[in-house]
Amino acid sequence: MSKTTAKAFSNIALVKYWGKGDEKLRLPVNSSVAVGLDGIFTITTVEFSESYAQDEVEIDGEQFNDSEKTRVSQHLDLIRQRAGMNHRAKVVTKNNFPKAVGAASSASGFAALTVAAAAAADLKLSEKELSVIARQGSGSATRSVAGGLSVWHKGSDSETSFAERIEYPSEWDIRVLLVFVGEVKAKKISSSVGMNLASTSPYFKTAVDEAQQNIERLRQALSQKNWSGLGKVIEDECYRLHMLCQTSTPNILYWEGATVDIFQKLQQLRLQGIEAFFTVDAGPHVHVVCQQRDVAKVKSEIESIENVNSIVECGIAGPAIIISEDLF
Ligand code: PMV
Repeated sequence: MSKTTAKAFSNIALVKYWGKGDEKLRLPVNSSVAVGLDGIFTITTVEFSESYAQDEVEIDGEQFNDSEKTRVSQHLDLIRQRAGMNHRAKVVTKNNFPKAVGAASSASGFAALTVAAAAAADLKLSEKELSVIARQGSGSATRSVAGGLSVWHKGSDSETSFAERIEYPSEWDIRVLLVFVGEVKAKKISSSVGMNLASTSPYFKTAVDEAQQNIERLRQALSQKNWSGLGKVIEDECYRLHMLCQTSTPNILYWEGATVDIFQKLQQLRLQGIEAFFTVDAGPHVHVVCQQRDVAKVKSEIESIENVNSIVECGIAGPAIIISEDLF
């Protein structure tokens, strides 16, 4: 058993995951699709050893709080069970972006933890097996194992619910601008809590059916190389997730004024022939999906909006990987 470090990238869902069929296994109510983001990542080093009395977990130089620690330990248990050993671990992890602000830190976090811990326990697992394990830490992490443009198959049980890469037209030089709005602080309602309220929305059942249809619409846009069609699906999916949030009990409103200002700016740009599309996860920040040729214009227009804090430009990331630089 040796110390191992992994790097995994965040991802942004184009067809969203917002509702679980099985809480414990984190099986989703619908399949989803996401792109990996190369500008936002987590690096995690894991070492299992008899010398640790308990799991030690440190993130960005600070200890995890108790509930975060329990979640990490439970995830390590999946690896320990599989490897047939019981050693505790030291885990040191670093994000290059603020955690819990709605920029999918749990996605890159649990993907990096899974890949590092599996290798540190000498397990030789396929990408599919790693994706299945990562999913149990955080649903969206299953897609960060695969990277690229990936589809997370809803599946019918744990083994069939995993992500794999799908092709997109090579002439699309896709960029995602992550636009932080307002003060970058921890969100009030985590995605886990918010998602568990989804089924209280009177529109839940229809929304699940719609998500499945939107996967088909997205696949069609890809095969027809229809960029505008893809954009329409992306924005429909953003509205679908937030409609569920806004009609849950209690109601959840993740957006801020600047969030909507960005939507309107992109709508105006479209009238000028610039096709950039918005999507928003469980927070106020906006991910703008566009093509490289339009990045400069889109960025300068968005920068002029009040309360836009900062913009991180991302290309499409690869899968989670083992790297040689250990964090301790
Ligand atoms: O993986 P979780 O439990 O953090 O849920 C993520 C949910 C969203 O990011 C809001 C949507 C998605 O499909 O990634």
